[in-house]
Amino acid sequence: MTTMPLGAQTAVRSTAVAARATDLTKVYGQGETQVVALDRVSVDFRQAEFTAIMGPSGSGKSTLMHCMAGLDTISSGSARIGDTELTGLNDKKLTRLRRDKIGFIFQAFNLLPTLNALENITLPMDIAGRKPDQQWLDQVVETVGLSGRLKHRPSQLSGGQQQRVAVARALASRPEIIFGDEPTGNLDSRSGAEVLGFLRRSVRELGQTVVMVTHDPVAASYADRVVFLADGRIVDDMQAPTADAVLDRMKRFDAKGRTS
Ligand SMILES: Nc1ncnc2c1ncn2[C@@H]1O[C@H](COP(=O)(O)OP(=O)(O)OP(=O)(O)O)[C@@H](O)[C@H]1O
Ligand SMILES: [Mg+2]
Repeated sequence: MTTMPLGAQTAVRSTAVAARATDLTKVYGQGETQVVALDRVSVDFRQAEFTAIMGPSGSGKSTLMHCMAGLDTISSGSARIGDTELTGLNDKKLTRLRRDKIGFIFQAFNLLPTLNALENITLPMDIAGRKPDQQWLDQVVETVGLSGRLKHRPSQLSGGQQQRVAVARALASRPEIIFGDEPTGNLDSRSGAEVLGFLRRSVRELGQTVVMVTHDPVAASYADRVVFLADGRIVDDMQAPTADAVLDRMKRFDAKGRTS
């Protein structure tokens, strides 16, 4: 597969929606311990767009991602992947949807300790009985810098290398949408920049859709758009973010995570 340098092609942006939340509300607990983690959130994640989600700790970023990815139930409203409404899907259908359409990159790498790096990368496809596209797999492995480590088990890899395995695993099957919760949070700035650059290229050149939670304005600046959450609500939506603009916006959150 040939990869064109960034900027060498005109971006063909689809306006199709890869995932959509409509009045999504998520309440944890009951009575006095009740927490409204998401309060009527409506947001579209368009195909072939790289979206960063930011906001203070506890603002609902992980909850939004988990609800959109079918990893957590919602209290009311709607969460869709493509045309599929997640509420009402039985466990089997939900599992299949996650397996076939969604890639995940978590802060904790969630690698299987008994499998080597390559086996971890292809595991979701092996489970689904799908054959990896070898050229694509080679490109993914090379870009995340794992070519010399494919036979290593997670315990024989550094934290950064393990996270790169997790990123490669999410990209390997070319899912319709990739959700990452601070995917570069545990990486040094150089590996982080490589992973972010690769995610951005997969969006620009291959039409991948990526939604990424991050606390880092520099990481967010790799995205096409930043959605800001505060107190379970969307409070801002920034296009073509720069690290400086994101940092300025973050400064307007007060110590309690509210926005001014
Ligand atoms: N399983 C749970 N049970 C009860 N409350 C929860 C649960 N998960 C999250 N919450 C609460 O929901 C709110 C949103 O949490 P969430 O994890 O989405 O925040 P976040 O924006 O991802 O924060 P961080 O940046 O610290 O990861 C918080 O007040 C949190 O305490
Ligand atoms: Mg979180």
